[in-house]
Amino acid sequence: MSVSKHPLFTALAICVALAGCSRETPVTFTSSEAVTKLPDQLQVDLRAALAEHAGSHATPKLLGNEDVDAATLRRGQLVYHERCVQCHGDSGDGNGPVAASMYPRPRDYRKGIFKFTSTPYGARPMRTDLIRTVNRGIQGTSMPAFRLLPEEDIAAVVDYVLSLTRRGELESQLVELVDFEEAVDPELVKDECVPAVIQKWVDAEGSEVSPLTSQPVFTAEHVTRGREAFLSEQLGCKKCHGEDGRGQTKDNLAGNLKDTWGHVTRAADLTGGFLHGGQRPLDIYLRIHNGVNGTPMPGFANALRDDPDKIWDLVAYVMHVTNARRSGERPLPGPISPYVPTASAESGGDAEASPEAAE
Ligand code: HEC
Ligand code: HEC
Repeated sequence: MSVSKHPLFTALAICVALAGCSRETPVTFTSSEAVTKLPDQLQVDLRAALAEHAGSHATPKLLGNEDVDAATLRRGQLVYHERCVQCHGDSGDGNGPVAASMYPRPRDYRKGIFKFTSTPYGARPMRTDLIRTVNRGIQGTSMPAFRLLPEEDIAAVVDYVLSLTRRGELESQLVELVDFEEAVDPELVKDECVPAVIQKWVDAEGSEVSPLTSQPVFTAEHVTRGREAFLSEQLGCKKCHGEDGRGQTKDNLAGNLKDTWGHVTRAADLTGGFLHGGQRPLDIYLRIHNGVNGTPMPGFANALRDDPDKIWDLVAYVMHVTNARRSGERPLPGPISPYVPTASAESGGDAEASPEAAE
C-alpha cells in the first residue's frame, strides 16, 4: 500500500485541508484611523474609490502595474499570509499580532517609505531593493531572511507588498482630497490622486545611486581618516552615534528621537556587528550617501559633494567599528566617557579596545 493510500494519511490530509479553510470571517483590509473619523457616507465613498483603483483583499490589484496579473498577486498574498502577516498585519500597517513588543517595529508599508533603498534620500525604493531585503532579511532586527523561499514566491510577495503599499498611499491621498472637497469626485481621484501615487514609483525606478568614486582597497589610513571625519563637528556623526559609535547619547538613552511612523527610535549602535542596512561596503556607502528614510539619519550626499572619497573613509571606519567585537575586542560596558585621542588612535590603532579600556 502506498503512503498516499493509507487511511491514516487520508484522514490527516482531510484535517489539514479543513484547518486551511477554518478561518471564520473572511479577511478584509482595515481602514486607516483618518478614514474612520470621516462622516459615514464619505467613508463608504472613499472605500469604494480605493477598491476600484487599488483592489480589495478578495481581488488584490497592484496600482500602477496592471501588468502584474491576479494569479501572481494571489500567490503573493498566500506567501504573505503564511510568512509576513503576523508582524506586518493584514493591511500592511505593521500592526500584526506580535508587532507591539518589537524594536524596531515591523514596517508600516502604507506611507510608501522604506529605509534601505538604493535611491536618493526621500525617494521611493526600487523593486529590487525590496527583493534584496526580503531575501537577506534585516540583520539585528526581527525581520527574517527568506532566501530559502523559491524566487517566484519572493517576487510575488514583493508585488503583494507593493500593492498594500500603494493602496495605503492612495488611501492617504483620498483622505486629503476629502478634507479639501468634502466629496469623493471620481474624476479628481483618477486625474490627481492616482497619478500622485504612481509618479513617485516611476521616478524611483530610474534613480539608482552609484558611488561617485570607485571603492578603494581599504587600509589603516582610510580608517584613521574616517574616524577623523566621524568625530568632526562638520559632519556631526558623533552627536547621534556617540564618539564610540555605540549610540549611547543623551537623546538616544532618553528616547527623544521619533521616526516617521511615530515610534521612538535611536541612532544605530554601529558596534553591534549587525548593520541593519547590510554589511557590504556598498550598503554602508548608500546609508551614508542616501541616509535612512523615515529616520533622523540624514543623507550626506550634499555635505560631501566636493570630497566624495570621504564617504569611503567613513565606510572604512564604520566597517572597522562594526567588526571590532567579532575580532575579539571588548567595548566598555555602559555609557562611555568622552573620546580622548591616544597615541594608538592617532596611528590608526584601536583606542577603544586597548587592554586597559576593556577592563
Ligand atoms: C517576525 C517579524 C517579521 C516577519 C515575519 C516579517 N517581517 Fe518584514 N520587517 C520586520 C521588521 C521588524 C522590520 C523593520 C526593520 C527596520 O526598521 O530596520 C521589517 C521590515 C520589512 C520591510 C521594509 C524594508 C525597508 O527597506 O524599509 C519589508 C519590505 C519587509 N519587512 C517585508 C517582509 C515580507 C515580504 C515578509 C514575509 C515574507 C516579512 N517582512 C516578514 C519584521 C518582520
Ligand atoms: C541626526 C542623527 C544622526 C546623524 C547626524 C548621523 N546618524 Fe547615522 N543613523 C542615525 C539613525 C537614527 C540611524 C538608524 C536608522 C534606522 O532606523 O535604521 C542611523 C544609521 C546609520 C547607519 C546604518 C546602520 C545600519 O544598521 O545599517 C550608518 C552606517 C550610519 N548611521 C552612519 C553615520 C555616519 C557615518 C554619520 C556621519 C557622517 C551619521 N551616521 C550621522 C542617526 C544619525
